Amino acid sequence: MEIVPCPDRQRAVALTARLIEARLRAKPNLVLGLATGRTMEEVYAHLVASGVSFAHCTTFNLDEYVGLPPDDPNSYISYMRHHLFDHVDIDPARANLPDGMAPDLTAAGAAYEARIAEAGGIDLQLLGIGESGHIGFNEPLSALRSRTRDKILTPTTRGQNAGMFGGDSSAVPKRALTMGVGTILDSRELVLLASGASKAKVVARAVEGPLTARISASAIQMHTCCKVVVDADAAAEL
Ligand code: GLP
Repeated sequence: MEIVPCPDRQRAVALTARLIEARLRAKPNLVLGLATGRTMEEVYAHLVASGVSFAHCTTFNLDEYVGLPPDDPNSYISYMRHHLFDHVDIDPARANLPDGMAPDLTAAGAAYEARIAEAGGIDLQLLGIGESGHIGFNEPLSALRSRTRDKILTPTTRGQNAGMFGGDSSAVPKRALTMGVGTILDSRELVLLASGASKAKVVARAVEGPLTARISASAIQMHTCCKVVVDADAAAEL
């Protein structure tokens, strides 16, 4: 694991975006794993501004809320359209998210895994980190070999994401369909970006703590090609 400390959020975001851009330019048909959350908004703004082409790229998002229709402004597909897909030349047929509206979520999880496999696996997976230690929506005690399936969200996570739901954590969906920890670890390269003082403790536990299912992000310690990009505030406890 390589820790990449940056003096501030702007530089951490810019460096992460440049890394993705470089991978896209080197391999236009990159299979790129995408993440959501406030931290990623500026990464996508940089990618849009860079003018890099997504025309031959295939993307797989980490997760989607269960029960939010695609046109709901808080669904992750809406987030992705708003921040990235509507502003780049990506083929919408190759921009994949788990189907949180599927009547059979177990089957939808298996279908998502099959689509990733058909695409040849994920070359580069972008990750944020939740205050509960989640990557994707792999809440504490997710199996370290888990695959795409639905998870119940913890009160911590629903509170953390309430801002996007008018500040009301009870409006945040109770479940999400998420890639598993095992799915994420199968990616050929991982880049985790964390910014801000609220992430300092969990970053330290993920990076320096014991490998434990209590902190799903600690599983990245097992990956052989993983960068953790942190600004000074998120690195404060390292
Ligand atoms: C959501 C996503 C996670 C992301 C997290 C961080 O919970 N499912 O993949 O890491 O948000 O959010 P933020 O960047 O807003 O702190």
